[in-house]
Amino acid sequence: MRPTIIAGNWKMNLGLSEAKTLAEGIKKGLPSLKDTLVWVFPSHLHIPAVIEAVKGSPIQVGVQNIYPSDLTAMTGETAPHQAEDFGIKLGLVGHSERRQYHGETNKICSDKTYFLLSRGWRVVYCIGEKLEEREAGKTFEVLSTQIREGLETIDSNHLKNVILAYEPVWAIGTGKTATPEMAQEAHAFIRKEVSALNSGTEEIAKAMPILYGGSVKPDNIKSLLEKEDIDGGLVGGASQKTESFLGLL
Ligand code: 13P
Repeated sequence: MRPTIIAGNWKMNLGLSEAKTLAEGIKKGLPSLKDTLVWVFPSHLHIPAVIEAVKGSPIQVGVQNIYPSDLTAMTGETAPHQAEDFGIKLGLVGHSERRQYHGETNKICSDKTYFLLSRGWRVVYCIGEKLEEREAGKTFEVLSTQIREGLETIDSNHLKNVILAYEPVWAIGTGKTATPEMAQEAHAFIRKEVSALNSGTEEIAKAMPILYGGSVKPDNIKSLLEKEDIDGGLVGGASQKTESFLGLL
C-alpha cells in the first residue's frame, strides 16, 4: 500500500513573513488524512522559520537542492550535513528548472541521489519531457534515459527511499496539466522502468510513490489521484497559498 504524498515546492517565491504565514496556515487547517504525507520545500533561508511554524504537526520540511558532498570549498552551495542540522533528510533532485537553468545532467542528478541516499535521506527524483520531446514522440525514451542514468547505480536497499516525480516540463507553471490519462500512461511506464532497472527492483517499483507535477490545482488533483499509478502531487503555484494548499489536501 503506497502512501499519498502532497508536496509543495515553493521554489524561489515568497518572502520570509509570507512563508511563515503560509506554513502556519497549513498547520492550522491541516485535515487529518489517513496514509497521507504532507511535505513542503521552502527556500533554504526560510527553513528555520518554516520548521518552527509547523512544529508539532506531521508536516515535513525538505530542501529544493543540495550539494552532493560535505565540508568542502563550494561557494554558494549547501551541504547535506547543514540541512541535517535542522533535522532535514528529504530533498528534491533533478527538478526541470535545475536541469534546464543549472545544467544538471542525469549524471549530476545520479551523484546527488546516491550521496543523499547513502546518508539515509529520502529523495524525490524528478523527471519529465519537454514539449518538443513529447511532440517528437520521444516522451518514453526521455523518461527511460532519466530513470536509467539517474538511478541504475542505486542498490535496492537505497532505492526504497526514492520517490519519483513525473513533471512534464510543458505543464510546469503553464496552466496546462497533463490529462489524468496522459499522466497515468507515463506513471505506469515509469513504474515498469523502475521495475526493470536491476534485479530485485520489481517489488520496490510496486511500493514506490510516483507523484505528478505540473499545474496541479485543487480542482484537478482528485481526477489525477484517482488513477492507479498516481500517488500524489508535487505542486508549485497552488502550494503557495494557504487556501489552495488546504484545497489540495
Ligand atoms: P506548478 O504546480 O506551478 O506547475 O509547478 C510544478 C512544479 O514544478 C513543482 O515542482
